[in-house]
Amino acid sequence: MGGPLVFAHRGASYDLPEHTLAAYLRALDEGADGLECDVRLTRDGHLVCVHDRRLDRTSNGRGLVSARTLAELDALDFGSWHPGSAPGGDLPPDDSHTRLLTLARLLDAVLDAGRPVRLLVETKHPSRYGSNVERRLVSLLRRYGLADPAPDDPVQVTVMSFSPLAVRRVRELAPTLPTVLLLEVLPRWLRLGRLPFGSRIAGPGIGLVRGRPQLLPALRAAGNQVYVWTVNEPTDLELVLSAGVDGIITDRPAYALARLGR
Ligand code: G3P
Ligand code: CA
Repeated sequence: MGGPLVFAHRGASYDLPEHTLAAYLRALDEGADGLECDVRLTRDGHLVCVHDRRLDRTSNGRGLVSARTLAELDALDFGSWHPGSAPGGDLPPDDSHTRLLTLARLLDAVLDAGRPVRLLVETKHPSRYGSNVERRLVSLLRRYGLADPAPDDPVQVTVMSFSPLAVRRVRELAPTLPTVLLLEVLPRWLRLGRLPFGSRIAGPGIGLVRGRPQLLPALRAAGNQVYVWTVNEPTDLELVLSAGVDGIITDRPAYALARLGR
């Protein structure tokens, strides 16, 4: 296979509600190389796949995710808000497009996929949870045999964060687990081209890449891989393809794959 890896951001989240099992299974059906997922802790210490700090945007609940137990969250509807859930849409017959997804359930799904899958797990949010998210994450991955990957393991997990501190924690807890340092702005030290704490993958946002033609070649020339997020628009896709990247993180995996002729 040539060209960059295609990762489905929050699943096939353009078409189906983000972070639902249905959105992830759709992305795998479409042929995505990998999946991206944000994780937060519930009040009783479970890792759940939810992007926002609050429940309001993506569920029929209100308030903080971290203030609810897993059982309380599991009673909410995480899918009906999305246009893809409208009656007549191409929806699965079960509740996989409305139900809360735990990271454990997502790991079960990727291990059952019967083909190689790369899973990018982004920890949110270091200032809120201290080191707990990274600790719980590494211990869950260890339970699944995914914390010390061998090159031929079909499921490969990479941990991502905007926080260099969180990346350092993961490297300490699981030294062979790959990490991505996400970048929304350009820190001064990045001019050196070297990422801190053994990260060898940079994750710049597309907003950072636009208008900076030197950024991606400089990061790659320094020996880093580069995964760019969130590449949904045709002009952005052409931009990253012409610059050269190792991974494209997109809400529209089918569109990116079609452009790559896959
Ligand atoms: O893949 C990285 C990207 O997801 C980071 O931004 O806000 O979508 O989590 P956000
Ligand atoms: Ca994310």
